[in-house]
Amino acid sequence: MIAVAILAAGRGTRMKSSLPKVLHSLGGRSLVERVLQSLTSISPSRCLVIVGYQGEQVKTALTGRHEEESNFLPAVEFVEQTEQLGTGHAIQQLLPHLEGFTGDLLVLNGDVPLLRSETLKHLLQTHQEHQNAATVLTAHLPNPQGYGRVFCDGQNIIKQIVEHRDCTDAQKQNRRINAGVYCFRWPDLAASLPLLQANNDQQEYYLTDIVDLVAPVMAVDVEDYQEILGINDREQLATASEILQRRVKSKWMAAGVTLIDPASITIDDTVQLQPDVIIEPQTHLRGNTVIQSGCRIGPGSLIENSQLGENVTALYSVITDSVVKAENSIGPYAHLRGHVEVGAGCRVGNFVELKNTLLGDKTNIAHLSYLGDATVGDRVNIGAGTITANYDGVDKHPTQIGDRTKTGANSTLVAPLTLGADVTIAAGSTVTEDVENDCLVIARARQVIKPGWRLKSAQD
Ligand code: UD1
Ligand code: CA
Repeated sequence: MIAVAILAAGRGTRMKSSLPKVLHSLGGRSLVERVLQSLTSISPSRCLVIVGYQGEQVKTALTGRHEEESNFLPAVEFVEQTEQLGTGHAIQQLLPHLEGFTGDLLVLNGDVPLLRSETLKHLLQTHQEHQNAATVLTAHLPNPQGYGRVFCDGQNIIKQIVEHRDCTDAQKQNRRINAGVYCFRWPDLAASLPLLQANNDQQEYYLTDIVDLVAPVMAVDVEDYQEILGINDREQLATASEILQRRVKSKWMAAGVTLIDPASITIDDTVQLQPDVIIEPQTHLRGNTVIQSGCRIGPGSLIENSQLGENVTALYSVITDSVVKAENSIGPYAHLRGHVEVGAGCRVGNFVELKNTLLGDKTNIAHLSYLGDATVGDRVNIGAGTITANYDGVDKHPTQIGDRTKTGANSTLVAPLTLGADVTIAAGSTVTEDVENDCLVIARARQVIKPGWRLKSAQD
């Protein structure tokens, strides 16, 4: 039986932020969510998140998320640590909650977001195979500044963990650090927790002092030290983001995606890509985005929470919360602003904005248009500068446009409005009344020409 505790009560002073540290976002997910995500292959029987500083905010963030993504994040219980007196003090708060529990407790820091679940599995395996009282994940860091140093004998049995600020200059030379990830035999830990003392530089109860109170305590090295980067300040957040981006991009390149100038591209690890997608420079793919084979995205595009079918191009465009079916050409400079569905084989061109709009197949909106709350049929041609006037200042109104209809340049469609199929609208029309199938509509002042006419003043 395994229970998990996540330390998330600290304030994160070094972030200099009004947001609790563990809620800072890394590649589209908060730090603490990422920690929860690393538990997927462990399936713990309980998962206790220790909250304190702005605990309500942390709780709301995690409970809201949990409902949406319940199939991949474990159910959590919250434990309050009202005063933040150190990591040992935080774990002491578990005592009433885990009374009678006889299994192992996996402890994770809420600010160590890049751990892989394989690493946790390996830690648990070693812990159980060696029947350790505690097993600590360690790493050899090129720059161990700020981390607790781990001192072992030749058999990886830990003798001491000393926080950076409590180290002598000689101890600081040790590059083996404590990752903040531990597995404890709970009954042994529970018996020792009340014995912790706060006699250190910070006057805090350190969880790391447990190594003096139980035995045996073993160190296990992580393969890739980048996994255990702790986020204490914005600089470390940026470093973690770089590491995450490198991981995500390597994965997609290995899966057959071309990235042109990868350093200028960002891809959330929630995005799904098919082989033979080409991502051009300065492109950002976010959230729940899925892009099918043959798409060429960018340069300069932002795609968020959107699904793109096969062979779509999206050049210098922004697509949010939308579905774009196969064989579409989007942009340059198109903005699909949410709840847009574009049928197959359409062209949505230069400076076109769509909002809450459905396009049929093979429909073109090539230049300078705004369609909002519109339902457009197949093979429609929306002329340059066509605008739906969908908002009367109070309410929004729908526009329906039938198959094969053509709107002339600079048409204004005043909603609510229904245009039938095969309708032609003359350029410059302001259309306010519904139109049946197969009609020509001219809704503009007739042109007047007065031959030989000049301004009076010009004749003098
Ligand atoms: C801790 C370890 C250090 C290790 C490093 C790895 C201790 C004493 N030190 O140091 O050996 O190298 O992590 O990243 O454990 N927290 C609480 N309640 C508290 C204090 C902290 O919940 O009273 C939480 C924080 O929110 C954070 C985690 O515990 O998620 C670690 O706290 P932090 O202050 O960042 O510890 P470090 O100094 O990084
Ligand atoms: Ca930390």
